Amino acid sequence: MILIKNIKELIGIRVDKKIMIKGKEMSELQTIKDAFLLINKNKIENFGKMSDLNFSNENCEIIDASGKMVFPSFCDSHTHLVYAGSREIEYSDKIRGLSYEEIAKRGGGILNSAKLLHETSENELFTQSLKRINEIIKQGTGAVEIKSGYGLNTIDEIKMLRVIRRLKETTPIIIKSNFLAAHAFPMEYKNNQDEYVDLIINEMIPLVATEDLADYIDVFCDKGFFSTTQTERILMAGLKYGMRPKIHANELAKSGGIQVGVKYNALSVDHIEYTGDEEIEVLLNSETMPTILAGAAFFLNMPYAPARKMIEAGLPLAFASDYNPGSSPSGNMKLINSFACVNYKLLPEEAINATTMNTAYAMGVSDIVGSITKNKIANIFITKEISTIQFLPYAYGSDIIDTIILNGKIISE
Ligand code: NIG
Ligand code: FE
Repeated sequence: MILIKNIKELIGIRVDKKIMIKGKEMSELQTIKDAFLLINKNKIENFGKMSDLNFSNENCEIIDASGKMVFPSFCDSHTHLVYAGSREIEYSDKIRGLSYEEIAKRGGGILNSAKLLHETSENELFTQSLKRINEIIKQGTGAVEIKSGYGLNTIDEIKMLRVIRRLKETTPIIIKSNFLAAHAFPMEYKNNQDEYVDLIINEMIPLVATEDLADYIDVFCDKGFFSTTQTERILMAGLKYGMRPKIHANELAKSGGIQVGVKYNALSVDHIEYTGDEEIEVLLNSETMPTILAGAAFFLNMPYAPARKMIEAGLPLAFASDYNPGSSPSGNMKLINSFACVNYKLLPEEAINATTMNTAYAMGVSDIVGSITKNKIANIFITKEISTIQFLPYAYGSDIIDTIILNGKIISE
């Protein structure tokens, strides 16, 4: 057992059964000042005001959190953190003026990562990816979704998914896997793109399902990538095997991706820079979480999604990192909170809800993490001594985390 006592402020308490937070409620972040939190095995057993603490157990580890705050760990519902090498050469090309689409057309971008991944052994890929997992754990993330999509052929896609499975088995962070062979068209299918879609449907999906390697299925449904018709075919094929969609949509244009996602009851539609009234209307009548990838929009200098308008229309919003080598080489969710506030005008309370409860929903784990709730898994972090909740997004370059607890255990360096 672990008892954290004298907590200056315990953040993100939820006692209701809501699985996501919408509209006006996004600015409500319930907290308790001068609090305790009791962890038993891997679960949150109890919490409350220090004055109500009535507990003694000699075998209990006690942490004195005077001056410090406790937050539920961040959930990062969209990453591509299993990849080989890096792509900073393209970073320079971008600075010189080439766009993301132009780099992709030259065989750079995703295809470049696919080539590198092909040349990298499964073991080496695991080692590189594990480093990134350990990095995001230190930055406060307690649950992460990871996609395939740098394989782009059957063997390499399976290789990626096996690495994700090994990460699930060996790390304390909660992991969900997402099958994204429809990330880009390989060069050899440039002139017969539908044949690549056939390969995904007829060969890859059944194999992935046989090994039970994917929780979700994804398509990059956008201008210059997969059309809405191709997306529908792939989503239908995945759904037959129980893979719920979580898709890339409307990053480069009003591609119809949001509508397709909602039509197939996607858990989330992500990027969504190009969101207008029509898309908002469709989302309002759905169970799909609109998810903004603020790191990618920042890194690629994209237009920002109309976050305020969406919240004011009554929608929920999630913010995830998109950690990947091309458009967002960082999985730092605290920084995503800062981007959410500065670039999208979210209040700090809204940003925290958008990166904990709502991202938990967007990766299908809001019943077990995402808030301080009795019986949820004890995935939390204790801050250093900080003044207010607002300090978290405000101090955008500072490491404010002191202690990390995942699955009820203190994570040591
Ligand atoms: O989410 N938009 C599509 N895919 C990734 C980028 C992957 C890459 O460039 O390697 C994204 O931004
Ligand atoms: Fe992505």
